Amino acid sequence: MAKIINVIKGTKDILPQDVGEWHRLEETALKVFSKYGYQEIRTPIFEATELFARGVGDTTDIVNKEMYTFEKSERSLTLRPENTAGVVRSFIENGMSRLSAPVKLWYKGPMFRYERPQAGRQRQFHQVGVEMFGIKQPAADAEVILLAINYLKALGLNDLEVELNSLGCPKCREEYKAKIKEVLKPEFNNLCEDCQTRYEKNPLRLLDCKVESCQAIFSKPEIKEVIFSDFLCEECAEHYSQLKEYLDKAKVKYTENKLLVRGLDYYNRTVFEIKSNDLGSQNAVCGGGRYDSLVKNLGGEDTPAIGFAMGMERLNALLPKVEPKLLDGYIVSNSPVEAFALAEELRAAGKNVEFDLANKKFTKQLEKASKVARYALILGEDEIKENAVSVKNLETSEQIKVSRENVSEMV
Ligand code: HAM
Repeated sequence: MAKIINVIKGTKDILPQDVGEWHRLEETALKVFSKYGYQEIRTPIFEATELFARGVGDTTDIVNKEMYTFEKSERSLTLRPENTAGVVRSFIENGMSRLSAPVKLWYKGPMFRYERPQAGRQRQFHQVGVEMFGIKQPAADAEVILLAINYLKALGLNDLEVELNSLGCPKCREEYKAKIKEVLKPEFNNLCEDCQTRYEKNPLRLLDCKVESCQAIFSKPEIKEVIFSDFLCEECAEHYSQLKEYLDKAKVKYTENKLLVRGLDYYNRTVFEIKSNDLGSQNAVCGGGRYDSLVKNLGGEDTPAIGFAMGMERLNALLPKVEPKLLDGYIVSNSPVEAFALAEELRAAGKNVEFDLANKKFTKQLEKASKVARYALILGEDEIKENAVSVKNLETSEQIKVSRENVSEMV
């Protein structure tokens, strides 16, 4: 036999018995996001590498270590590791800044990151997300956070923790970064290799480091004091406090986490994550925030924006399984031509039906019907003569004979 070719590590097939879970996520997204005025956008799965280098940021792990990049006709292309940059590119390219604000877009689809696969972390994974353009006021931040919570609630997920932080604006954040660098200077040689790079390139990302020895350094009192100091300028503090007022008004429970800095460089002011305690170490189901400079940095007009994305595999891991749908009817007959014609009649009437294409024995067909359908539609010689069908409810075993034109009303 020829050698079997396996699925690539960190990727998975979504099999027919599991696809119902995905439909649930997608249908609920369409329903809930539409309520808030979002429209779906579908952007390409690969983009110019530069889009992510400039968009996501060249100090991030995503850009430095995790991108699937390849060359074609001397162009460097990359499988999208996330979709905010792609949506922003499309927003600019399609002149959406001319539309009246806010422009609200949602998406779903596969993303690619070369990470170490583990439970809840894949190399091809799926996100569902939203991006809102054109509103700088904190009401937009509050609405986006509420939308994330309401989507999760509509799926039946309630036991979640919302973490919130403000990263300030480039101005107040620069001062904060400088202070962090200053207080960590004596510890530089004790920081992990990644943190030493971050120290130079993006010191805020230091706070996110999971390495124990770094955590120990950050919890030293003089260092902790700087990390937890209030650094927001007046406008940023006001934006943050108004956002909290909206959230309090909506009775949203959240925890403020000063160490929440997110793994992408485009954020300013509001950042948030939603976590589940049921998920183990990869417990973030949703991450998002404001990115007021990204549209401009990617060549568009100055446009404030905010959004989030959720890991669909992680959502499915939290939700009960969806049983595959049964057919409405399975035709049991020794006359394949008659069965074929009945199947088409019922399909035309909107029913999901099958018959035995291989024309196996009657008993085999009945067995199959009981596995795949709610009703067995028995079309024996008598029924054919009488232009009737015996409809057997496979749950209760009740059986009645009805005239052929009435079958579709019975199943
Ligand atoms: P992110 O935090 O990198 O943000 O990803 C969002 C979510 O995607 C995570 O919370 C997680 O649930 C899921 N996720 C990320 N990586 C993996 C993986 N390797 N395997 C499984 N699930 C994963 C973003 O991508 C931003 N674009 C979100 C955003 C939109 N910010 C503003 N607008």
